[in-house]
Amino acid sequence: MNATTSPAAALPALPADPDATANPLVATTATGHRRILTGDRPTGPLHLGHYFGTLRSRVELQAQGIELMIVIPDYQALTDRDRADRPDEHAENLVLDYLAAGVDPGRATVFTHSAVPALNQLMLPFLSLVSVAELSRNPTVKDEIAHSRQAAVSGLMFTYPVHQAADILFCKADLVPVGQDQLPHLEITRTIARRFNDRYAALFPEPQALLSRAPLLLGTDGGKMSKSRGNAITLGASEDETAKLLRGAVTDPERHIRYDPEHRPGVSNLLLLTALCQDRDPHAVAEEIGSGGAALLKRTATEAVNEYFRPLRARRAELAADRTVLREVLHAGNARANDTADRTLAEVRTAMGTFTCTR
Ligand code: TRP
Repeated sequence: MNATTSPAAALPALPADPDATANPLVATTATGHRRILTGDRPTGPLHLGHYFGTLRSRVELQAQGIELMIVIPDYQALTDRDRADRPDEHAENLVLDYLAAGVDPGRATVFTHSAVPALNQLMLPFLSLVSVAELSRNPTVKDEIAHSRQAAVSGLMFTYPVHQAADILFCKADLVPVGQDQLPHLEITRTIARRFNDRYAALFPEPQALLSRAPLLLGTDGGKMSKSRGNAITLGASEDETAKLLRGAVTDPERHIRYDPEHRPGVSNLLLLTALCQDRDPHAVAEEIGSGGAALLKRTATEAVNEYFRPLRARRAELAADRTVLREVLHAGNARANDTADRTLAEVRTAMGTFTCTR
């Protein structure tokens, strides 16, 4: 996810929002939902923040029998850069991470934007359903524009939330597991669904967001965890690389270890990471370390991460030996996504009364 959040604001657990059930945008559980769509830009490998933020819950939801769709939005990677860097290689590596984490390729559909023409074609009627004012006040897009490396804002940057609506609506997904920063896009998606249904025919469910309950993990430098900043532990990192990154993690000189995300973000982040890996409360981890200081905390965190991810990493290494399997997963996913998108586009054309004579 791309919003930048200050470390102090990022750490505290998302409260179990008492109003969440009153907010139709956000679902608190997956009960009653049938199809999930979510995705990751192919700009680098997935890291522990992705894992505890969304990947793990995707696998859990799949185990509950909910259909899982994952878009690898290769066109969306062009919102803030001139050229996508090795998008196919990154896409294959994402598939590798998904499979290693437990996504079942027999049941899940993993696909790329560029391979599904009918999905992209939905962008045009959908653009007609939103105003320029609505697009320009999207806070996540504004934030990305502020951090973009490009001299000018492209039309794609400005309109990609509508493309994202097509990702979600083409397969009529009703649940979208995402981080907070994606909520404005979900709101646009719901608006488009509602306006299409009102104007033409009731085709689309209004999807809800499913926010992760796990607090956000920071990078080892205390900033947003991101591969490009060199502060992220990737899923595929070796045990030695993990140890090295955690040894260099920012902490503070106070010897007594306490979980206090607001005042001690670095220490608290390592406690949180350990707690997530051991399914414990970060306060309990802090108590155990007591006056052991940052060095013991770092050793504890390293052991916890390496132990938790050992089976996943072993599976990942096995799968990495045969890249043809990864490509086959994408081919099969793209074929399924194309069938679905063709069907939805046909329904959209019929509802709009367009081009029916050519079919
Ligand atoms: N915008 C998302 C991100 O930057 C990626 C994405 C593209 C996505 N299409 C999506 C997420 C549809 C959820 C649903 O991480």
